[in-house]
Amino acid sequence: MSIIIRGGTVVNADRAFKADVLCFGDKIVAVGENLDAPASATVIDASGQYVMPGGIDPHTHMNLPFMGTVTADDFFTGTAAGLAGGTTTIIDFVIPSPQQSLMEAYHQWRGWAQKAAGDYTFHVAITWWDESVHRDMGTLVRDHGVNSFKHFMAYKNAIMADDETLVKSFRRCLELGAIPTVHAENGELVYQLQQDLIRQGLTGPSSHPLSRPPAVEAEAANRAIAIADVLHTPVYIVHVSCQESLEAITRARANGQRVYGEALAGHLIIDDSVYQSEDFEFAAAHVMSPPFRSKQHQAALWHGLQGGNLHTTATDHCTFCAEQKAAGKNDFSKIPNGCGGVEDRMAVIWDAGVNTGRLTPSEFVKVTSANAAQIFNIYPRKGLIAVGSDADIVVWDPQGTRTISAKTQHNKGGFNVFEGRTVKGIPSTTLAAGKIVWHQGELRAVEGAGRHIDRPAFKPVTAT
Ligand code: URP
Ligand code: ZN
Ligand code: ZN
Ligand code: ZN
Repeated sequence: MSIIIRGGTVVNADRAFKADVLCFGDKIVAVGENLDAPASATVIDASGQYVMPGGIDPHTHMNLPFMGTVTADDFFTGTAAGLAGGTTTIIDFVIPSPQQSLMEAYHQWRGWAQKAAGDYTFHVAITWWDESVHRDMGTLVRDHGVNSFKHFMAYKNAIMADDETLVKSFRRCLELGAIPTVHAENGELVYQLQQDLIRQGLTGPSSHPLSRPPAVEAEAANRAIAIADVLHTPVYIVHVSCQESLEAITRARANGQRVYGEALAGHLIIDDSVYQSEDFEFAAAHVMSPPFRSKQHQAALWHGLQGGNLHTTATDHCTFCAEQKAAGKNDFSKIPNGCGGVEDRMAVIWDAGVNTGRLTPSEFVKVTSANAAQIFNIYPRKGLIAVGSDADIVVWDPQGTRTISAKTQHNKGGFNVFEGRTVKGIPSTTLAAGKIVWHQGELRAVEGAGRHIDRPAFKPVTAT
C-alpha cells in the first residue's frame, strides 16, 4: 500500500526542492528529506529526476460521437495513453445533441467513462436552450460535480451555440458559480467560407485552414469576451491558436477581466505547412479546428504562456483513423475534425518549453497541471505535491529520450502529429491514485481504475 519516491527534486508551481515523497493508499502522506517509510514500502529511486504532479489535460474527447462517426480512442485507451505520458487526469466533454436532455447526455458519458484507467471529470456543453437546460445546469452543479460549461461557437447545423444560448448560459453559469468556456470560431463565417471554397472546386484538405482564418477565431474570442464583460462572468477560451485571439485575451486581462486561455501542444509545435501535403491521408490527419497556424502564431502562443496570458496546455485529444478521415475525401468539410496527443503533451512541452529555456520546471508544472487544477477547482487535490493531495505523480527523467511514433504510441488512430520528433525529458514512472501505472516503459493501466472527480462550484449554490 505504501510507495516511497526517494532522492528526487519535487517540483511544484511555486518552488522546487529536494525531498522524498511517501504515498499511502491514494494520497501523499509525507513530503520531506530522508523520510522514514514502512519496511514493506515499494521504493522508487528518483535520484537525478524531477517529481511532479501528474499532468492534467483539461481538453480531451474520448469516445466522442462527432461528424458522423465516433473517435478511435475510448476512455480506456485514451486515459491509458495519458498515463504512459505522465497525464493522470483528463477533463473531457459531455456534448448533448441539440434537443437532447443534459442529464441524459451526462449519464451516457459517465457510463462510457466507467472503463477509464485514469481519473476524469467533465465539462458539459450547452448546445441548445430551453427551461430544462436551465434547470439541468443547476442539477449538474449542485449534485454532479460539474463547474464548467462549454459553448461551441462553431459547427453550424450541429452543436453550435447561438448568441441567445451564449448569453443565457453565461448568465446561468454566474448564478451557479460555474465557469463558461468557449470554442471560439465564428461558425457562420466558417460555413460560408467552406461553401465558397467547395463551389470553386477547392475540395481538398488545404482548404481547411482557408475556411478558418485567424480573424474567424478572433471575432468569436472577442465576442465571447465582450459577453462575459457585460455579464460580469469569467470566461475560459479553449484551444487559442492565433495571435489575434491571444491579443483579445491579453487586452481583456489588462482591463481587469478574468479571462483564461488554453494552448494546445499541437498548436505550439506544428505549423500549417502540413495542409500543403499532396498525400490526402497525411493532410487529413491534421484537420482539426482551429487549424494549425503559421510559425508567427506559434511564437505568439509561447509568449502567451511565458507572459501568463495563456494558462493551461491541453491536447484536444480527438482521434480518428485514416478510414474515418476518408469520409472527407471529396469534401474537406466532411473530414472528422481532430488530432491526438494525450500521451505526448507533457514531453513535447518539456522539450520545446523547458529544454529551450522558455519555461522553468515550476512554470511547466503551472501550465501542465496546477493552473488547470486551480481554474477548474480541484486544487490542491490535484496539481500539487503535498500532504493530502492525490498520489498522482510523475517521476520525470530529464535525460531520457523518446522518438515519438504512431508505431509505439498507446492510443488508437494509427497516426501521430508529432511523428519522428525526438524529445528529451520523459516520464520514467507514473503514479495514479497511489498505484504505479507506468514504469520504465511498461504500461500497467487497469481498465476501470479511473475515478470521476467532482469539481465543486466556485460559491455555495443558492440559485434554483
Ligand atoms: O477539431 C477539433 N478540435 N475536434 C474536436 C472538437 C473541438 O472542436 O474541440
Ligand atoms: Zn444523476
Ligand atoms: Zn473545439
Ligand atoms: Zn475539443
